[in-house]
Amino acid sequence: MKGLAVNRQVVQLPRPDDGAAIEALVRGARVHSRVYTDPHIFELELARIFSTTWVYVGHESEVPSPGDYQTRSIGRTPVIMVRGADQGVRVLINRCRHRGAQVCETNSGNTQLFRCWYHGWVYDTAGALVSVSDKEAYGNRLDTGAMGLTPAPRVDAYRGFVFASLAPEGESLGTNLGGAAAAIDLLVDASPTGKILVDGGSYKTEYRGNWKLVGMDGYHTPFVHASVFAAKQRNPGGGMELTQHGRFSDDGASARDFGHGHAMLDYRKNALRDYAKRCADLGKVPGGPEYIEAMHKTHEDAKARLLISLAGDPHLGVFPNMQVVQNQVRITTPLAADLTRITMTAVRLGGVSDEINARRLRRHEYFYGPAGAGSPDDAEIFERVQRGMMAEVDPWIEISRGIEREMADSDGSIAAFHADEVPQRGVMRRWLKLMTQTA
Ligand code: FES
Ligand SMILES: [Fe+2]
Repeated sequence: MKGLAVNRQVVQLPRPDDGAAIEALVRGARVHSRVYTDPHIFELELARIFSTTWVYVGHESEVPSPGDYQTRSIGRTPVIMVRGADQGVRVLINRCRHRGAQVCETNSGNTQLFRCWYHGWVYDTAGALVSVSDKEAYGNRLDTGAMGLTPAPRVDAYRGFVFASLAPEGESLGTNLGGAAAAIDLLVDASPTGKILVDGGSYKTEYRGNWKLVGMDGYHTPFVHASVFAAKQRNPGGGMELTQHGRFSDDGASARDFGHGHAMLDYRKNALRDYAKRCADLGKVPGGPEYIEAMHKTHEDAKARLLISLAGDPHLGVFPNMQVVQNQVRITTPLAADLTRITMTAVRLGGVSDEINARRLRRHEYFYGPAGAGSPDDAEIFERVQRGMMAEVDPWIEISRGIEREMADSDGSIAAFHADEVPQRGVMRRWLKLMTQTA
């Protein structure tokens, strides 16, 4: 057949140590589908991304009291984030030092001890091995003082967000976050006391698609979420406050790449235009006027206006596994090349009325809840993308939108229009850097 340009070029399967073969999968702003579909690539991602860089584990407010814990994972490594009797928050590998069983099986809870299910070894909440059943049988062979639950090699936190790295050495969390830290502030500082509580309940969903598909994408909204906007148009007063930012032009919203794969859909300028409307809305909520007053007392005027207008939504993706979107902190867990789990946990602001937090939760449920109007559509489109990318002809996908209008901003980030594929390019740059690093 004439007229069809079919690219049948086969890219050789990369060997684990073959950086050149991986580089061949990314050609500027074109990416080979195999990056999303190949199980070998997925294994390399676990080794070269999730086992080396900083990975988000959880927020300190999820373990407020001694003995509180949450089980999470870093790539495939199961971990426990636990607050010890000394108030310290630790990230411990969830693996018994005897014969390797997970010592904690529940998602969350409170405990004084972790007792291994297999042979009954017991660890305290700081990870120390405090009891070995029938210990005498080991004679003097066990150095129990050195056989506590293994801590993650590096753990650090930024404003309560706990990150861990399985690599004993590497750049600091601060260096890794770079400009993304200021975006995290936009959520935390939406509380007049500078405290957030990541305890508003979680939704978990799994989709048959690659973990890198979840991203800051300002381009898809009017299409994937058309039904949400149609409903809003039919019932302007009855739905949630949803705004359709900058469809395809420069309306002040931008897509921003902070480096290190961290990216943001930046609504700061647009939101400011809605300051009066936001204040009017808050004026109708118990505690709303007090909130506005407290924010202006805490921050200088321009900052207070921005924080009130933005309502704590930085719309930020922190590579590789965290997003802070609307009123939630989201964890992306890679399970296979074509299987991903998303955990969305709603946030409450400290120092505000219950009514304000309730409104924020309702808004979150409306779009992101299991019966919500938006999130299921995102999962569906990711599965369609994954199925489409199984095609082996013309396997290159295109992420060049807006590449010619990218500009370096004063904070060192790169920005273009809101619907431009700045975040997608930023993620691929980071992906390539980590995937081609040598051990
Ligand atoms: S594996 Fe944990 S006590 Fe044996
Ligand atoms: Fe979406």
